[in-house]
Amino acid sequence: MSIALVILAAGKGTRMNSDQPKVLHQIANAPMLVHAMQSGAVLEPARTIIVAGHGFDAVKASVEAYDPEATVVLQEEQKGTAHAVDAARAALEDFEGDVIVLFGDTPFVQPETLERMAAARQDNAVVVLGFEAADPGKYGRLVMQGDSLEAIIEFADATDEQRAITFCNSGVMLVEKSALFSMIDAVEANNAQDEYYLTDIVGIARERGLSVTAVACDEAETLGINSRLHLAQAEAVFQSRARTELMEMGVTLQQPDTVMLSYDTVIGRDTVIEPNVYFGPGVTIESGAHIRAFSHLEGCHVSRGGIVGPYARLRPGAELAEDARIGNFVEIKNATLDAGAKVNHLTYIGDASVGAASNIGAGTITCNYDGVMKHKTTIGANAFIGSNTMLVAPVTVGDGAMTASGSVITKDVPSEALALARAEQVNKPGLARKLFELLKSKKAKRDMEAK
Ligand code: UD1
Ligand code: MG
Repeated sequence: MSIALVILAAGKGTRMNSDQPKVLHQIANAPMLVHAMQSGAVLEPARTIIVAGHGFDAVKASVEAYDPEATVVLQEEQKGTAHAVDAARAALEDFEGDVIVLFGDTPFVQPETLERMAAARQDNAVVVLGFEAADPGKYGRLVMQGDSLEAIIEFADATDEQRAITFCNSGVMLVEKSALFSMIDAVEANNAQDEYYLTDIVGIARERGLSVTAVACDEAETLGINSRLHLAQAEAVFQSRARTELMEMGVTLQQPDTVMLSYDTVIGRDTVIEPNVYFGPGVTIESGAHIRAFSHLEGCHVSRGGIVGPYARLRPGAELAEDARIGNFVEIKNATLDAGAKVNHLTYIGDASVGAASNIGAGTITCNYDGVMKHKTTIGANAFIGSNTMLVAPVTVGDGAMTASGSVITKDVPSEALALARAEQVNKPGLARKLFELLKSKKAKRDMEAK
């Protein structure tokens, strides 16, 4: 059965107290809406439709950056969840199959849960995702009769007896498309909030003699984000889950709570991550690597056996081949390091390529920016860059070449050549002793005067 994913994301999110639409606030460096899309992706939807309203243009741009195939439709006024799903009607005109409705601010529904809903749909026209709430608050209440879901009653419209129910509506619903829109046509807004409730289709389905059931999931999966506090809690939930998954896949996290991961972080087996490491978006670390404490990585790739840190910064476009080593206080940006290359101390390598087994000395800088444009530095294999070398790009250092420490390299260095580009040293015999004497007598005179 073909399935369409409809994610409701038009609400303002007043409690976020933000200029940004709520669903674009990030968890693990991806908008919460993208997490919802990822969660729905397990059902391999033939279409993904996002219903946006507040901050429409920003939401559309963000969705399209993540999934160019997704459709973003406008719900101009927010008149309730049934009205929101109705905004997707035109985009589903020529679609046949099931529709799953998710909320953009409820991003953690697990794949296995959605699969259980899909299984329950075989024997039911409508499947709703419910959960046992520790504190049912203002959630809609699920009125069950055995396995049959008879109605969903919104808190504002519920009797005291109904409010005592603790089995609540998550908002996730799975329905065949034609039935869904035909039932939405029957929804009225005569309730406490003057809204078109999607939840009313449950009662309508029962009146039409259709079978409706609820599948239960853990309350943590239905965590809705309405405030910055909820956002921080959601971040914690994501991080803890992602760290556990990594450890289960054979990655060592020496102090898991201090490692921050992104929604797309990939780390291979037998890699060791020391405490206080930050993984921004777009990081891939292969097997058997070692990331030392206090390193900050984003948009980079570390191959098998690589060693990074402590206190290293790998920025977008940093590509480390096997067994490359990056030491403390080193920044790498848009640069490739071939196998076994070493950059161990206090160095900036930007817009560059470094050949295999080359050694970059402490304090080396690729001077890649002339104030207007960026330029490239190319270093061959088995080269040795002396400490405190300034490589003024564009410049090339050949295979097996050397630069003397303290050099300012402005011209290409041929293979196997030694480049010396610094003032020549002059020794003045006895002059240091004389200078010390002069300075000491000056100090003694000043101390006398001060008394
Ligand atoms: C909804 C459910 C309630 C459930 C709860 C779970 C209804 C009527 N009620 O209530 O049973 O327990 O979620 O969190 O469905 N939205 C739009 N357009 C609209 C209205 C809402 O896009 O016109 C979006 C919101 O941005 C949000 C989602 O739909 O992502 C849910 O809306 P919200 O107003 O939070 O519904 P609740 O009152 O929490
Ligand atoms: Mg809500």
